[in-house]
Amino acid sequence: MLQKIKESVACISKQTTIKPQVAVVLGSGLGDFVHEVEVKLKIPYSQIPYFPVPGVDGHEGALLFAFHKQVPLVIMQGRAHFYEGYSMDEVTYPLRVFKYLGIDTLFLSNAAGGMNPDFKIGDLMVIADHINMMPNPLVGEHVPEFGSRFPDMSEAYNKKLIEQAFSSAKKLPVQLKKGCYIAVTGPTYETSAEYRFFRTIGGDAVGMSTVPEVIVAHQMGIKCFAMSVITDLGVPGKIEYLTHEKVKKAAQDAEPKLAMLLKDMIGKVGR
Ligand code: HPA
Repeated sequence: MLQKIKESVACISKQTTIKPQVAVVLGSGLGDFVHEVEVKLKIPYSQIPYFPVPGVDGHEGALLFAFHKQVPLVIMQGRAHFYEGYSMDEVTYPLRVFKYLGIDTLFLSNAAGGMNPDFKIGDLMVIADHINMMPNPLVGEHVPEFGSRFPDMSEAYNKKLIEQAFSSAKKLPVQLKKGCYIAVTGPTYETSAEYRFFRTIGGDAVGMSTVPEVIVAHQMGIKCFAMSVITDLGVPGKIEYLTHEKVKKAAQDAEPKLAMLLKDMIGKVGR
């Protein structure tokens, strides 16, 4: 794995001298953020050795090098998912590469179903904790260079970044919710009984991404911040027939709020 990472890093480093400090991973229908930062270089995933290429509509599949308020960024416009048949190693591979590019902070976004009865479609939920119902990406051979064999997960989501999100939101026309994200493999959406179960065990939102990346990044000592856009409701009485198109549309509608918040937060990330 280390050899592969070095090849990917070498391919990227040949094309840019930008040394990103922050990585941003944009979920389904949430790719417009890239129009709001100063993009210097775009590399399709297909041109980077070993990078998984997402096949899902709504996920662009390009790596962007950019600046926002002088903070150097690497942005993933779209991500590969486990449900596409990629292994956990493949799904989380870009995060390994970003660590070796030198990032110290990771911002992730996703579309998720809301199970908390106080949520409505279009809400933004800061992820404060998670329950992982996907295979763990750290199963398998341990590479000591990445970090502990048994990483602590009691504070996987950086508390300071969570606080910062709420202080940024105060001065923006953005309201934030906070909650626990449950990660499932998909690709099916939930049955009504599954939504009920996930609510009972402590979930506020459910989705098919983010947690593998957070586990891998947290193991490597990267500060993680993640946010869900609530695109549908898994609340008894409010459950509607769900399609990927509806999820994408709801995510796109809420995207400007997410972009505003991310921009404000990234501007405050200092070395
Ligand atoms: N369940 C799982 N994944 C999702 C959902 C959902 O309701 N909405 C968006 N992604």
